[in-house]
Amino acid sequence: MEKKSILSGIQPSGEGIFTLGNYIGAIRNWGVMQEEYDCAYFIADLHSLTVRQDPQTLKKQSLSAFALLLACGIDPDRSLLFVQSHVRTHAELAWILNCYSQMGELSRMTQFKDKSAQHADNINAGLFTYPALMAADILLYQADLVPVGADQKQHLEFTRDVAVRFNNLYGETFKVPDAYIPKAGAKVMSLQEPTKKMSKSDENKNATVLLLDEPAVIMNKFKRAVTDSEKEVVFREGKDGINNLMTIYGVLTGKTNEEIEAEFAGKGYGDFKAAVGECVAEALRPVREEYARLIADKAYLETKIKEGAQKAEAVSWKTLRKARKRVGLLELPR
Ligand code: TRP
Repeated sequence: MEKKSILSGIQPSGEGIFTLGNYIGAIRNWGVMQEEYDCAYFIADLHSLTVRQDPQTLKKQSLSAFALLLACGIDPDRSLLFVQSHVRTHAELAWILNCYSQMGELSRMTQFKDKSAQHADNINAGLFTYPALMAADILLYQADLVPVGADQKQHLEFTRDVAVRFNNLYGETFKVPDAYIPKAGAKVMSLQEPTKKMSKSDENKNATVLLLDEPAVIMNKFKRAVTDSEKEVVFREGKDGINNLMTIYGVLTGKTNEEIEAEFAGKGYGDFKAAVGECVAEALRPVREEYARLIADKAYLETKIKEGAQKAEAVSWKTLRKARKRVGLLELPR
């Protein structure tokens, strides 16, 4: 039987590139999914432009993000791994899909509303048509499944709507993708305000663990993690801080909540926090080490970036070509 295909993208912008939350919630599974699926992953640098970026930083972080995905176990010889802006088909299909997106539906996107409020001085058209670019990313590769967090579900719904609309007008052109809900999905919360998602844009540096944080920094952040005034390590409603630490520890050690509770019975929060910190620092060690090795090997990175772009171009062109024909764009004579 043919493998199903999976596609996902991640923005390279923001403090420290990726967080422990990105790792546990997404990237860690990306590596695992290569066993079962045909995977395509990319650095969504065009999407980053919808918020003002420092050009030097964006450039540097895009390269780092690429190296970091490799360090997290994405195998570029097995999966398609590339930088979005290197593959021109994305921007081109996004333009076409813009013409099949309605102002009304785009105005209902909660991310647009949130980001417009956050960046009131820069409510640009790209921010508004962000979902059309995301739809292009997905539809170009005829992806079956798209793993996305809760915040991107609405954009995936939009992608499906646009695909169906286009197919109804012109005949089967795009595969209509489904959301992929990971079996062992885990959402990592802020270490300082555990009712909020861990975010790279958090102003409180202690709230967020970055993938490339040094062990001492990681230990320190966990030591300061906000918990509650009780002393038992148990998973229970209302104990958001402890629940979050237990989730992180559980995902990384494979232990159940019961096993964790038994392990720390009679011990205090201090011991538990130290254990979680150590376990995270240890789990990220191979990523840190592999990243350090890769980022020093510019030639290898450049080769893989080039190969990824070429492969993605070839795959996505097939779809773009079909879509161009469907809407009546004249073919360039050969
Ligand atoms: N918008 C996504 C995010 O910010 C990133 C993204 C861009 C993406 N294109 C995509 C995710 C296509 C999945 C599929 O998280």
